[in-house]
Amino acid sequence: MLLNLPESFPTAVHILEKLEGGCLPEGPWVLVGDEAIRPLWERAGMPVPLGSRWVNLNETTKRLDTLIPWLEAWAALPLHRDVCIVAVGGGVLTDMVGLAAALFLRGVTWQAWPTTLLSQVDAGLGGKTAVNLTAGKNLAGAFHPPERMVVCSAFLDTLPVRQLQSGRWELIKMAFLEGDTAWAERLMAAPKPDSSDLARALEIKAELVHHDLREAGDRKLLNLGHTLGHALEAASGFRLLHGEAVGLGLLAACFLAEEAGLPPFPPELLQRLANHLRHLAPEIAPWEACLPWLARDKKIDTGANGTAPAVHCVLPQPGNRATLRFLPPEAWSTAHAKLLNSFS
Ligand SMILES: NC(=O)c1ccc[n+]([C@@H]2O[C@H](COP(=O)([O-])OP(=O)(O)OC[C@H]3O[C@@H](n4cnc5c(N)ncnc54)[C@H](O)[C@@H]3O)[C@@H](O)[C@H]2O)c1
Repeated sequence: MLLNLPESFPTAVHILEKLEGGCLPEGPWVLVGDEAIRPLWERAGMPVPLGSRWVNLNETTKRLDTLIPWLEAWAALPLHRDVCIVAVGGGVLTDMVGLAAALFLRGVTWQAWPTTLLSQVDAGLGGKTAVNLTAGKNLAGAFHPPERMVVCSAFLDTLPVRQLQSGRWELIKMAFLEGDTAWAERLMAAPKPDSSDLARALEIKAELVHHDLREAGDRKLLNLGHTLGHALEAASGFRLLHGEAVGLGLLAACFLAEEAGLPPFPPELLQRLANHLRHLAPEIAPWEACLPWLARDKKIDTGANGTAPAVHCVLPQPGNRATLRFLPPEAWSTAHAKLLNSFS
């Protein structure tokens, strides 16, 4: 299935029911794939061109130095401007391969074949590529959208359950972003999303990033759940996975929205959300440990004009798309307390 995205959208998105090679580049290409995917890829008889590599990456190796040998090897082959780099892996890998493609010969095309639910719903689409620096995550990167993104649910069969559950929160976030409570209920009840859920989430993301590649306006709505989520993730010493922290941040954002005077979500829905998150409660850091991370958020407006610092807060509301407010980091304190209370 080829998604129906805005005409000028830079990435064609395909959803495959089973793994097959019809979407691979027609011209010269090489693959950078996650070792974890290799058996599945080879069993399906998918091609592996000369110069391809299987890699084992994580947040610690998501660094510029890891990319240099890839670039050196591509230049030595040599690969030319007409090459397409095919990235098959989770968000760490697609972020890194996208950046390597942006750097090689000042930019060659690439395809994203995301293999975790989180990267299928989020990281693979939108053009943000990056590596980490000592000072923080994703601090060196480029906007370089893939020419094609290929989403195949077969990859999810080998994904560890915790990774699958974590990725579901980015999908559930989309239902709250749209204020679609029936969709949120359905996603929470289903063990694995179906292709129509993925298609809908990707169409929403494409609509939001399309006119806003550099996150000046509507794209910020995708940060629903991320403001407190990032703080909880960092303050847990990264024991919380990204999606898990987003789930907790999402529930807190519902509380904050209500406090800010938006219509409340049905209490039964919030209770069900809390029930799905309850096992993560022991990892929720106390408010005092979260505040410094909130105050350091990259989405902060530092108050250069003498105004108090404020963070971008995306507030969900039932029946309507979420809305954006700038609030001081301290505004999250009550929502954080309500989050803890909802598990007691
Ligand atoms: N570019 C963006 O817009 C964007 C958006 C969100 C997140 N991100 C980035 O994405 C990264 C997180 O991505 P992630 O959650 O996909 O984690 P990940 O890439 O670290 O993958 C998680 C683990 O699953 C393994 N794996 C991947 N696919 C598998 C499969 N099908 N079967 C078995 N194992 C598999 C990986 O080897 C890894 O150990 C972060 O670095 C984050 O910064 C980027």
